[in-house]
Amino acid sequence: MVSASAYRTDELLDGFLREMERGLEGEASSLAMIPAYVGIGARVPAGRSVAVIDAGGTNLRIGLALSGQHGGIELSRFTKQPMPGRDREIPAGAFYDLLADGLEPLKDEFESIGFCFSYPAAITPHYDGRLLHWTKEIKIPEMVGTHVGEGLLDTLAARGMAGRKVAILNDTVAALLAGRVQGEGFGASSYVGFILGTGTNTAYVERNDRIAKLDGYLPAGAQAINVESGGFAAFRRGPYDLLLDERSENPGGHVFEKAISGVYMGPLCLALFQALADEGAFSQRGHAALAVMQTLSTIHIDNLATGNGLDPGVLGTEAFSDADREAMKTVFQAVVERAALLAAVNIAAAVVKCGEGADPARPVCINIDGSTYYKTHRLADQVQRHLRAILEPRGLHIRCIHVDDAPVVGAAIAGLTTFA
Ligand code: BGC
Repeated sequence: MVSASAYRTDELLDGFLREMERGLEGEASSLAMIPAYVGIGARVPAGRSVAVIDAGGTNLRIGLALSGQHGGIELSRFTKQPMPGRDREIPAGAFYDLLADGLEPLKDEFESIGFCFSYPAAITPHYDGRLLHWTKEIKIPEMVGTHVGEGLLDTLAARGMAGRKVAILNDTVAALLAGRVQGEGFGASSYVGFILGTGTNTAYVERNDRIAKLDGYLPAGAQAINVESGGFAAFRRGPYDLLLDERSENPGGHVFEKAISGVYMGPLCLALFQALADEGAFSQRGHAALAVMQTLSTIHIDNLATGNGLDPGVLGTEAFSDADREAMKTVFQAVVERAALLAAVNIAAAVVKCGEGADPARPVCINIDGSTYYKTHRLADQVQRHLRAILEPRGLHIRCIHVDDAPVVGAAIAGLTTFA
């Protein structure tokens, strides 16, 4: 792995900005820069209910949202299950059936659906989304290249729920929208949604006249762009980054995500531990245990590093010596340090690109979501430190916030405002 100190922050930031620009211009780029057709100006009508689907990297949640006064959103009747297609491959029909099963008990209480779909999808001017490819190791190959909203509405119609409407949006766009209520409170000049959880990605607001690939109905002046920042490829990778990539479900794709997100940091550590053990850096029994390990969850290595008393899985057992555990913590710390630097550059690029934040009284509102960001040992602190080092000399001001259930809240806002 390449350690954090081997990168030049300015070069990384320039690389990000260059790839963003290319993506917007429709040129070859590792950043998809997908227009969301969602503006930030729409008012949420009070007293309306909408169904919400949140297909995240780990969980699938379905329920109802009701809009209150002052833009508040109340959630009810949510069900939660593991995201289908994560453990084994399933057909598209099985996925849509699960969505319809979840919506059926709510069918008398909604006309439209806000659907937070946390995967790369090209959004149409009518708010459908065509899945470009799966990420986060999901295996439902039949859905690739198809319109997810249409697939859902067809299944609902076949089940006697015809005539519904659905707005598909990325989870980062949902996070961006969910930040509005707080952002308006402190006079935010613009909005960014950043996710670092199972996967990673960013959305920011761009002027319509800067976006080459647009057609159809446009929100006034500006709209959210789903950067698909997990695809960023203009950074140096080491041999174990390449190995992890080769072994993944989408080799060559989303290589930035493979360096920083929750589903990959554990496996990256495992590859590094195994290589170090082969070089004699672990005890004999540790070497033997590592040789048969197929995977390592980020949560287990994080629990070991934090010493928080939570389960470190096999890493806490007699299979390893205390010296082995110390070596593992050192490696994990290096992986987290690099992830923090890369995540900060990613957020900073969105801030620079949005063109706002020069006035300290009107900072850019960054809504950050994702368990990897908040729970990983020493990650968030380091991201904030790097952000200050990058943005202060450039005279740019931000305020980072957190909104509970941001993907669901943002999807509800999209469902409530899109068809109002
Ligand atoms: C997906 C993005 C998503 C991100 C965070 C990535 O794997 O490609 O669309 O926003 O994960 O969930």
